[in-house]
Amino acid sequence: MGTDFYNIQFCEILTEKAKIQPFTMVIFGGTGDLSRRKLLPTLYHLCKDQHLPEEFSIIGFASSPRSDDEYREFVKRAIEENSEEAIDWGCWENFSRHIFYLSGGFEDEDSYRRLSLRLEEITKTTDKGTREIIYYMAVPQQSMPGIIDRLSICKLCKGVFSTRLIVEKPFGSDRASAIELNRLIGRAFDENQIYRIDHYLGKETVQNIMFFRFANSIFEPLWNRRYIDHVQITVAEAIGIENRARFYEKAGVIRDIVQNHMMQILSLVAMEPPIGFEADYIRDEKAKVYRTVRQMDNEYIDRFTVRGQYGGGVIHRQKVPAYHEEKDVARDSNTPTYFAGKFHIDNWRWAGVPFYLRTGKRLKKRITEISIHFKQPPLKLFSAVCEISEPNVLVLGVQPHEKITLNFGVKHPGIGNQLYPVSMDFNYERDFQGNVHFPLPYERLLIDCMKGDQTLFARQDGVEAMWAVVDPIIRRWEETPAPEFPNYSAGSWGPEKADDLLRSEGRQWRIW
Ligand code: BG6
Repeated sequence: MGTDFYNIQFCEILTEKAKIQPFTMVIFGGTGDLSRRKLLPTLYHLCKDQHLPEEFSIIGFASSPRSDDEYREFVKRAIEENSEEAIDWGCWENFSRHIFYLSGGFEDEDSYRRLSLRLEEITKTTDKGTREIIYYMAVPQQSMPGIIDRLSICKLCKGVFSTRLIVEKPFGSDRASAIELNRLIGRAFDENQIYRIDHYLGKETVQNIMFFRFANSIFEPLWNRRYIDHVQITVAEAIGIENRARFYEKAGVIRDIVQNHMMQILSLVAMEPPIGFEADYIRDEKAKVYRTVRQMDNEYIDRFTVRGQYGGGVIHRQKVPAYHEEKDVARDSNTPTYFAGKFHIDNWRWAGVPFYLRTGKRLKKRITEISIHFKQPPLKLFSAVCEISEPNVLVLGVQPHEKITLNFGVKHPGIGNQLYPVSMDFNYERDFQGNVHFPLPYERLLIDCMKGDQTLFARQDGVEAMWAVVDPIIRRWEETPAPEFPNYSAGSWGPEKADDLLRSEGRQWRIW
């Protein structure tokens, strides 16, 4: 049989197994919410999927007294409650042997001396003769200075052990505090030891933005102000604040989502091609994007950003309370749970192309999506069957469906000359025929940290630049309380004003 010209030659995908050296992970806040819901189940899955080496240890560090065995019980329950599949008892037996617990105070030096002894005792040596320790800060930010300080005093940061530090987002609560936090960490750790985690970067489709853009030659020539009218980025959530009022009341939507997850997505969409796939080349390009985002003054913020707070409503046929009725939320809370805004990136590629970002809690559906809206053809030759003002939209769907869709116009069959919108689409689940494993974001990120790859972690200059973008909005909103709150019903698509923002510019948000 001759070569089929239309058959794409797929390359063989090699079985991926991470080569990870023996390590010990110390989880500060080992009994907290993040550990229970994400970290411990993820570590179990990595062990089950045989990504972890023979020799590894996990030490949960927290204040409550517990024995190793009691902690193992805690971990088992966390896995049972937070995994989609039933626990595999054989794998659990193996995994549980690697788990330990240390009861101690975050500011108590003696606890760190005990930690040091435990690390000496259980940490195995790597091929290179080092002993690798990963510290995971699964603690509120205010606990971090105390921990870093004690680790440093007890010589647990450099020297005997080779160490890495994982810090959760948000890193700081504004640019100044991010600099201060970094200064503090920097006294004990070097930048190449610090892993600032943002779980959005561990999502397959977020990583795929770069592959899609830079592994294909057909889209990149169009990826600029000449062909793109505007870009929309939506991170919509149907959930509320769950039991996190104490954190959320202080954070609000900008610190929780915009400063980190949305800025990361924005930079991947807007960045220039890096000169290589190494961590710093990519992070250099991302940082450049944040620096070119136009600074907003108060007048601009009042006109081109929209804040919202949800009232009561119905989601998935269930009645849900208003934000200010949630447990531990002030009845007159000024905390925003919704953000929409127009951003400009002042560089050669993007001059004049607005980026509209929106995110909110208790919206109608959970959807994270990037849509690239291309310009209209220069001349309208055909009439449209239906109201499509934009024939070409490229959609990168992050969740719940991981897909890429390109919309375009075709001739509607018939004797007339009518334009009709259709689409071509790639769907991860369908096209990989359900036989691939989608690593959960934390799986991918923990493996990368264990391998020492910082590509999917934020660098300090990037973090500071992201804060510089959003700080003026946070400040303005804090200075000017919002008497209109609550201004959108749970289960809606957010405040009317967000629709007006685009409508006044002859555009509209995508709807589902
Ligand atoms: C977290 C935020 O970073 O991301 C949460 O703190 C939010 O408020 C969550 O719900 C959303 O993540 P995902 O992966 O469900 O989109």
